[in-house]
Amino acid sequence: MSEGKVRYQEPVPETDIAEFRKVVESRRSVRRFTSEPLPEAVLQDCLDLAMLAPNSSNLQPWSFHVVRTPAVREGIVKACLSQNAASTAQALVAVVARTDTWHANTDLNLEHWPLPVMPAIVENYYRRYAKFHYGEGLFGLKGLFKKTFFSIVGLARPVPRGPYTGAEMRTWAVKSTALAAENFMLAMRAHGYDTCPMEGFDEVRVRRLLKLPRGAIVTMIIGAGRRAPDGVYHPRIRFNRERFIHDV
Ligand SMILES: Cc1cc2nc3c(=O)[nH]c(=O)nc-3n(C[C@H](O)[C@H](O)[C@H](O)COP(=O)(O)O)c2cc1C
Repeated sequence: MSEGKVRYQEPVPETDIAEFRKVVESRRSVRRFTSEPLPEAVLQDCLDLAMLAPNSSNLQPWSFHVVRTPAVREGIVKACLSQNAASTAQALVAVVARTDTWHANTDLNLEHWPLPVMPAIVENYYRRYAKFHYGEGLFGLKGLFKKTFFSIVGLARPVPRGPYTGAEMRTWAVKSTALAAENFMLAMRAHGYDTCPMEGFDEVRVRRLLKLPRGAIVTMIIGAGRRAPDGVYHPRIRFNRERFIHDV
């Protein structure tokens, strides 16, 4: 610790790898759920835990749409191509990435600063840098300018390379949102319930049913409930770790 400076410290609880492993290993994509209702408190807790996922610049570029209305549910199930994972689910949650909330959320970070004094670097980041750094601007012009500018400066030194274009902003938002989706699914498992993430859906219909604005990307629709005895279709398949893990 540098002298004279009091740095923030928070207590770190003991954790249990065996319990964590149990949750991770027993999470399977469950395609059939029983008719047992999913307790509302469990659903709300899992949504709260989803929102604790790490996310880019703490801009929390996500939204969670819990399907409640019977007519909307019927439409969503159809839009999910009537997959069992959707039709038998006790809860359906659309996990949506947002490229249209980052600007407002830079301000929320300033408003919600949790300590008496906001370090200048944080204030500068959210008041100026983040507002410049994110977003493609009108007709993508801001993004184009940043891309060109940083491509030139980047010849000489390391520079941020995005997200500047619309496509980069969508990837940016989906990355953080996928982490929230995983938190949600692991939380369900830890509560003893199960999930199935789905991207097998008609996004045009889902967007219409959920009345989503432009800048919203339906990352996954997650079905949740109590696992039916035949809810998992086969043992898990993972390829050799050598195929994926590389020392560099
Ligand atoms: C982004 C994403 C989309 C998926 N879409 C579907 C889907 O539409 N329908 C389905 O039955 N499973 C879907 N799955 C589940 C995968 O098939 C499953 O995760 C994979 O086969 C590994 O099995 P496991 O989850 O049981 O480990 C999806 C998973 C992810 C992460």
